[in-house]
This record gives sequence, C-alpha cells and structure tokens, in this order.
Amino acid sequence: MAKTVHTVAVVGAGKIGELVLSGLLRSGWPVDRLLATARRPSRAEDLTARYGVRVVDNLTAVAEAEVLAVAVKPQDAAALLDDIGPKVPADKLVISLCAGLPTTFFARRLSEGTPVVRVMTNTPALVDQAMTAISAGAHATGEHLALAEEMFSPLGATVRVPESQQDAVTALSGSGPAYFYLLVEAMIDAGILLGLPRQVAHELIVQTAIGSAVMLRDSGEHPVKLREAVTSPAGTTISAIRELEKHGVRAALLAALEAARDRARELATQAD
Ligand SMILES: NC(=O)c1ccc[n+]([C@@H]2O[C@H](COP(=O)([O-])OP(=O)(O)OC[C@H]3O[C@@H](n4cnc5c(N)ncnc54)[C@H](OP(=O)(O)O)[C@@H]3O)[C@@H](O)[C@H]2O)c1
Repeated sequence: MAKTVHTVAVVGAGKIGELVLSGLLRSGWPVDRLLATARRPSRAEDLTARYGVRVVDNLTAVAEAEVLAVAVKPQDAAALLDDIGPKVPADKLVISLCAGLPTTFFARRLSEGTPVVRVMTNTPALVDQAMTAISAGAHATGEHLALAEEMFSPLGATVRVPESQQDAVTALSGSGPAYFYLLVEAMIDAGILLGLPRQVAHELIVQTAIGSAVMLRDSGEHPVKLREAVTSPAGTTISAIRELEKHGVRAALLAALEAARDRARELATQAD
C-alpha cells in the first residue's frame, strides 16, 4: 500500500493525537490525506490554525478516511465506539492508541472482521524520537501492521510485539518519559542542594542524560558495563550508588512499573 492513497483520520486529536498528526505532516504525509476530530470547537479551530488539517465530525471521518487512528482517553472510548462503531465498514483499519484497551474491546463494538491494530507510542514523538510498539488484533494482517509502521516510523523507532505484552509496554515506554523527567528533576534539585545555580544544574544533567542515552543506544553495551566504567574503586560514584541501593531505587522501579502495568489492566476493565 502506498502511503499517499490512504486518508488517515485522528479521532480525538488531543495530546497524543496531535503528536501523530504533526509527525505525519513532518514526514511528508499530504495534509489533504489527514483528518482530525475533536470534541470542543476551540480545539478544532486550534488544530486547523496550526496544521492546516481539516477537522470534521466523527461520522465524516469514518466515511472519508481509510484509517481511523483512535486517540481518545480509554474512559471515552466506549462512548465514541457506541456512536461510530456500527457505521465503520469492515474494510477500514482501526488503529488504537489507547492505553490498556485490548483489540477485543474494539472488535466487540465494530463490524465483524474489522482489522484493529493496537499501538503504544510515547511523547518523544514530538521530536521524532518516539518508541512505538505495534500489535495485530484478530483481523489485522501483515499489510495492516506494515501500514501502521509506515505511519509511526517517521516518529521514531517501532517494534512489533504480541498484544499480550502491550500492558507491559505501556508501563515501560508509554509512561517511561515521565520516569526520566522525574529523575532529572530530582537530580537538578540535588545540584541545587550542592550549591549549583538552577540553570547550571539543569544544563549539566540534561546533557548528561542525552550523552548517556546516546551511549546506551549506540555502544550496544549492557547498562551494567557502562555504569561500571564510571564506578572506580573507592570513588565518588560508588558512594552515590550505595545510597541509591540503600533507598531501594531498583526495587522502587520494579514496583512502580508493576503498578503502571496493573493500572493499564484496570483502565480496560473500567472502560468496558
Ligand atoms: N499522554 C501520553 O503520554 C500517552 C502515551 C501513550 C498513549 N497515550 C494514550 O493516548 C490516548 C490519548 O491520551 P492524551 O493524553 O492525548 O489525552 P487527551 O489530550 O485528553 O486527548 C484525547 C482527546 O480526545 C477528545 N475526545 C474525547 N472524546 C471524543 C469524541 N467522542 N469525539 C472526538 N474527540 C473526543 C478529547 O476532547 P476534550 O479535549 O474535550 O476532552 C481530547 O481532545 C489515551 O488513550 C492514552 O492512553 C497517552
């Protein structure tokens, strides 16, 4: 399938929907092949003003687009699908960006045989550094997965995972940016505690985060190796690491990600 033949409608263009729209535009997706829907008129005006994209109602999106990228909050998905589900012909591709919702949630509300692809992306899509995990629902073919990859690869990296792993993906990379921002925020505070001006602390730690991330990606080394290279005997780093271990940072991360995974499951139950 050549990308220019597909009209994509972002249904519920909020934060994540906007990331998808702006990413597709940056990648050269023609604006006349993009549609968006919004609940509030002011949001619709805003999207048109910023991206030149046509904002339509949900039923027009269903009628005109070949691909419906659903980006509403999980708790709004049932109401949306009650409205549009019966009107979606089975030859449209539905791509869900909703955390937690299994493709069966959509299948129950769509015509029999409608292909559904579940996608979990993250906010670094804004700078084309997203991590997007893609899974096929019951009726999605390799061609549908390839089309989803075509849409999301300009926004960063993509990976195919079995749908059973998507709640874990949500906990890890979907919410992941927030954990890094929290760490950076805490380290800036630590810099201030040590007497550095806020701006200097910010600059030091942001560049350290970028440098460490690029090394992790490009060296192919295990993080333990990279950490060992900074941890000299009786040095400063090991003193800090002793404190991190004493305060259970590793255990806290394991528990935190388990909580995020459980919350993804809970969202699915509540959305039904
Ligand atoms: N934020 C993240 O980092 C992240 C990461 C990965 C996945 N996700 C997933 O992405 C989805 C969207 O999250 P978000 O943070 O982008 O939420 P959001 O900013 O609230 O966006 C959802 C948008 O959908 C609109 N909407 C709701 N019902 C609608 C309907 N029936 N018709 C048309 N528009 C409708 C909302 O309108 P109103 O403005 O009127 O509410 C809102 O603008 C969620 O399912 C979330 O799980 C988010």
